Amino acid sequence: MKGVILAGGLGTRLLPLTKITNKHLLPIYDKPMIYYPIQALLSAGIREIQIVTGGNFAGDFLMLLGNGKEFGLQHLDYTYQEGEGGIADALRLAEHFAEGEGIAVVLGDNIIEGSFRAAAERFRRRKEGAQILLKEVEDPQRFGVPVFEGERIVRIDEKPARPASNYAVTGIYFYDNRVFDIIRTLVPSGRGELEITDVNNAYLRAGTLEWDVLEGWWTDAGTFESLLRAQNLVARGGANKVEGPFLAERELLTQGAIR
Ligand code: G1P
Repeated sequence: MKGVILAGGLGTRLLPLTKITNKHLLPIYDKPMIYYPIQALLSAGIREIQIVTGGNFAGDFLMLLGNGKEFGLQHLDYTYQEGEGGIADALRLAEHFAEGEGIAVVLGDNIIEGSFRAAAERFRRRKEGAQILLKEVEDPQRFGVPVFEGERIVRIDEKPARPASNYAVTGIYFYDNRVFDIIRTLVPSGRGELEITDVNNAYLRAGTLEWDVLEGWWTDAGTFESLLRAQNLVARGGANKVEGPFLAERELLTQGAIR
């Protein structure tokens, strides 16, 4: 399975920081933000990655990451999102890279403590449909929020004023190749973007959306508050702080999980 990191947008919630760089290149403790989703994909055994970026500083990703050799990546691919069409609009650009296969998608500002390897393995076995990862949070109104009937999700609300549960839909998704057909049917939301929540709701309607709960801490880093939280979590001894972002990869190499 290939991985896609969505690192576009203008990061307007972090102005003026994002006047002079892309949000995903800002520091999270001792590493640029983009290192963390790369490491998360690596620790799920994914070594072919495409970064979808945009805005005025796209060239800086190439300067920082090059061909991905330093991370032990098999292949690092880049593409460019024009304008601010939203997460699903950015994902649309990964169609060629996906080559008809299913993909793991990570939002470039999502930082996790552990690994989503178990969920990735589950999706590899399923092959079809979509899979999301949920996490209990204190401020669900900032996120996509699942509405449950028993164990079953019946709907996902994007940034609801009155959240129906305490869970956020994290920015880690697995999709089969139908995702690109679904994106073609989307219309822009109230904020003028193609919403990933609409993609997930389309899979729900088709009865092919599954979910897991992510273990370990999770945060986004797209606002000043969450950026600070991410930095503190990593500094306090998130998996990434002590050993650096290459640890998981080294471990996998030792275990023979990747070659
Ligand atoms: C986006 C998604 C939202 C999801 C969140 C996770 O929100 O729209 O459904 O819960 O990422 O980080 P945004 O960062 O665009 O506010």
